[in-house]
Amino acid sequence: MNAPAYGYLVSFHDLHPEPAAFRAEVTAGLRQSRKMIPAKFFYDKRGSELFDEICGLEEYYPTRTEVGLLERHAAEMAECIGAGTVLVEFGSGSSVKIRLLLDRLPDLAAYVPIDISKEHLLVSANELVREFPALRVEAVCADYTRPLDLPDFDPELNGKRRCVFFPGSTIGNFEPAEAEVFLRQAAELAGPGGGLLIGVDLKKDPAVLHAAYNDARGVTAEFNLNLLARINQEAGGNFDLAAFSHRAFYDPDAGRIEMHLVSEREQTVRIGDEPFGFAAGETIHTENSYKYDVAEFRALAERGGFRSRAVWTDDRNWFSLQYFVVG
Ligand code: AVI
Repeated sequence: MNAPAYGYLVSFHDLHPEPAAFRAEVTAGLRQSRKMIPAKFFYDKRGSELFDEICGLEEYYPTRTEVGLLERHAAEMAECIGAGTVLVEFGSGSSVKIRLLLDRLPDLAAYVPIDISKEHLLVSANELVREFPALRVEAVCADYTRPLDLPDFDPELNGKRRCVFFPGSTIGNFEPAEAEVFLRQAAELAGPGGGLLIGVDLKKDPAVLHAAYNDARGVTAEFNLNLLARINQEAGGNFDLAAFSHRAFYDPDAGRIEMHLVSEREQTVRIGDEPFGFAAGETIHTENSYKYDVAEFRALAERGGFRSRAVWTDDRNWFSLQYFVVG
């Protein structure tokens, strides 16, 4: 048996991300004249399970298409990432997609998964080193959506080239102006000469988009309504889930899917002592998912401090993986 070069060890760095003020942010959103709840709150335990289920749905093409691109173009992508690089993944979760590249990246200096969920991060980083014993894993528990300095790794990693991996088109859940700020932060973290490999969902026939966010089995509807269940459990809410319904539609002018929860009747809901009145048909806006064309996203990334180097798309032009360098 070959002795593992790095010894199945994960180095763990806890940057103690501030827990979101769930109740305060939810009530602030519901006090607005157009009620909203930040989409980041979808992902409690049940919400994360439902999102995993969405990723496997027939209608939800992004995950399958992105995985296909990673499989087909792994060698070219690995060449862009390069040998001796520190590869940083934002929102690494179960580190599923990176596995498709790791076989082609035997000379990575280190893999740095960043995730806000400590338990999830530890479990998946440990599984990864078991599968890839020669891989050096420096797991970082942090909120990657905020400006971030990587912790002090051992000096041998200082000065190595960095590349950020951000798959899944999560960039589409940011407002374009926020996406630009976020990309600028990523460019700063990658540093001069650094890279970015990012998954970006593309504009397409609205019927395809509509089906992807209104699946026949109603998993996306359950994912959306789970927000209300979470408010009931964690913030003392009394939402009647049967009195709200899921709505998702594509707005071609804004180039985005909007998700809402629609009040089926006039009603008053309480969170703790605070009442929130709903007219019949009034909605809570829960998510935007922006779709770009390749040139549009390139322009956005350029404003964020990157230059385009490579783009991979599928035959139908539904999804893209795009590689950029800083500068
Ligand atoms: C995580 N994010 C990229 C998904 C999306 O498609 O915008 C979240 C999602 N919402 C409904 N279905 C999936």
